[in-house]
This record gives sequence, structure tokens and C-alpha cells, in this order.
Amino acid sequence: MSSFPQIRPRRRRRTPALRRLSRETTLAAEHLIAPAFVVHGADLAHEISSMPGVFQLSVAGRLDQEADQLEELGIPALILFGLPAAKDEVGSENFAADGIVQRALRRLRTRYPRLLLITDVCCCEYTSHGHCGIVKDGAVDNDATLEILGRVAVSHAEAGADILAPSGMMDGMVKAIRSALDSAGFQDRSVLSYAVKYASAFYGPFREAADSAPSFGDRRQYQMDPANVREAVLEAGLDEAEGADFLMVKPALAYLDVIRAVRERTSLPLVAYNVSGEYAMMKAAAQLGWIDERRAVLEALTGMRRAGADAVISYHAKDVARWLSEPEATA
Ligand code: PBG
Repeated sequence: MSSFPQIRPRRRRRTPALRRLSRETTLAAEHLIAPAFVVHGADLAHEISSMPGVFQLSVAGRLDQEADQLEELGIPALILFGLPAAKDEVGSENFAADGIVQRALRRLRTRYPRLLLITDVCCCEYTSHGHCGIVKDGAVDNDATLEILGRVAVSHAEAGADILAPSGMMDGMVKAIRSALDSAGFQDRSVLSYAVKYASAFYGPFREAADSAPSFGDRRQYQMDPANVREAVLEAGLDEAEGADFLMVKPALAYLDVIRAVRERTSLPLVAYNVSGEYAMMKAAAQLGWIDERRAVLEALTGMRRAGADAVISYHAKDVARWLSEPEATA
């Protein structure tokens, strides 16, 4: 058995070219999905205070600029989140033909035929109580919610969505959406399931961005316990069996082992969601001068890819694509 001094791993780290040749994981713009928050109104770009650099954008006048930038940077996909004009018990705007996400989809579909349009299919941004489904007797009713999710998915598909991404952690949500899409003639649209989504403190800033904090209780009756990984494998398997085309693990940074576990047990493409709180932490530390933002963010996203994610949803997407186009990024 040879070891030191015959074997010297440092030899492969001596120059940038040697390090590139030895690199096991790649991170490129094509692996990124950029989130976008859309609002009613015209020429609005409202920065989210806990997410510097991330804006709620009006479909009129602003969303095109965002899509232009994604195309220029080689980012193939965006995921839309909507802020409705009004909220009610069932979240009616969620499945309205002229809802905010449907408007965004119609505009982008005609102007950006190559951009992959993903939508978050959930109730929390649209309901007056802020929960991810229909509330009955103080709790989210799983099966009543499924019917709504089917309607939302079909209305997004009608408006041009390529991929429907249910995020509410309802049992049977993938099957319900798949069969609603198929009955409406949308056999060609994909389902990206937020199959493994934890009840996480790292969604805090998103709830400001999407105005979706629950008005009572929390989401622990439907989102997963951060302590569990066997259950993640179970959830992923169920959604695969229900017909999901892509699976997601969310959040990412505290769950890299979960990404790995799911990766090893499914052949479906896997997406990691680098969530709002993860973004906010990086931004805050960078603003204080405590970390090098570019290096820290590239390291974190490379880690998600190394753990087994094929793609990463990230609020850093545009910055990452810019950094990767600079030569020193891959040195
Ligand atoms: C909707 C949804 C949430 C996120 C994505 N879709 C919020 C939640 O579950 O509370 C969080 C995304 C993020 O924090 O960046 N259910």
C-alpha cells in the first residue's frame, strides 16, 4: 500500500489548471432557477427589507427587465410567486384567469418562449389566514385542499406554465395535480414536487416577501420535522410514485445530508431550494464585512450540487451567474 511520501494529494492542487482538472463538481448558470415575486400595479419594484437585492416586481413595466437579465446571464428558468390584490378563506385569486401569476405567465410566455416558467402551487399567499390550504375547524384540511391545488395548477398551465411546483406538503398533492392537468389536456406539463419540505425558521424573510405568514399557529402539521431523514426518503418515494417529474428538498444548507439521501434513492432530477433565510444570512454577514460574499455563496451552492442537487433555486442566481462568467471564479 503506497502512502506518503509516494502519494501527495497536494501535487494536484499546485496550479489552477491542475485544480480544474481535479474538480469533481461543477456549478454553472444552467443549474440555476431564479425566484420572482410578482405584484399588481405598474412600474413597481419594491425591495424586500430582509432580502437586499430581491424585489417584488409589477408585471407591467418591470418583469420583462428581469426576464431579459435571466436570458442574458444564461439562467434557464424562473419560479413565480404572486401577491394577490385581495385574500380570502380559499384564496380565490390563486385560480383566477386574471390572477397575478396568470398575468405574469401570459406576458412571459409570449415574449420569452425559451424561458422555463415554473410556478409555486400553494395557498398561503392567497388565503386570509395564511395557511397552505383550506382551514376547517382550526386545521388545514388535506383533501379539501387537493381540489384547490388541481384548479390552481390547471389555471397556471392554461396561462403558459411549463412546470407546476406544489409546495404545501399536502398528502396526495402530486397525484391530484397530475390528474387535474391530464383531464384538462395538459399531459405535457411537468410537476416539480416540493416533496421534502421542512418546517423551517429559514423561511422568515420569504414570508415578508410573499406576505404569507400564518395568522394563527404554524406549519408543523404539514411541513416536516427538521430531525427526520428517513421520512424524507418516504416523501420522495411517494411523490415519485404519484407521478412527479422532478423532486425538491428545501431548505438546502442545513439539509445537505437529506439531498444526498434522496439523490441516492431516486432517479428523478433533484432540485435544492436555497431559501430566503439562507440568502439573508449571507447578505447580512457580507454587509458587515464578516464574509466574502462571492466566495461564500459560490461555496454554498457548490456544496448543494456536490450533495446531489441537479439544480438550485436561489435568490443569489443572478449574482452567481455573473460571478461564474468572470474568469477568476473557476480558478
Ligand atoms: C409557500 C412557500 C414558502 C416558500 C416557498 N414556497 C413559504 C412557506 O412554506 O412558509 C419559502 C421559500 C423561501 O424561504 O425562500 N408554501
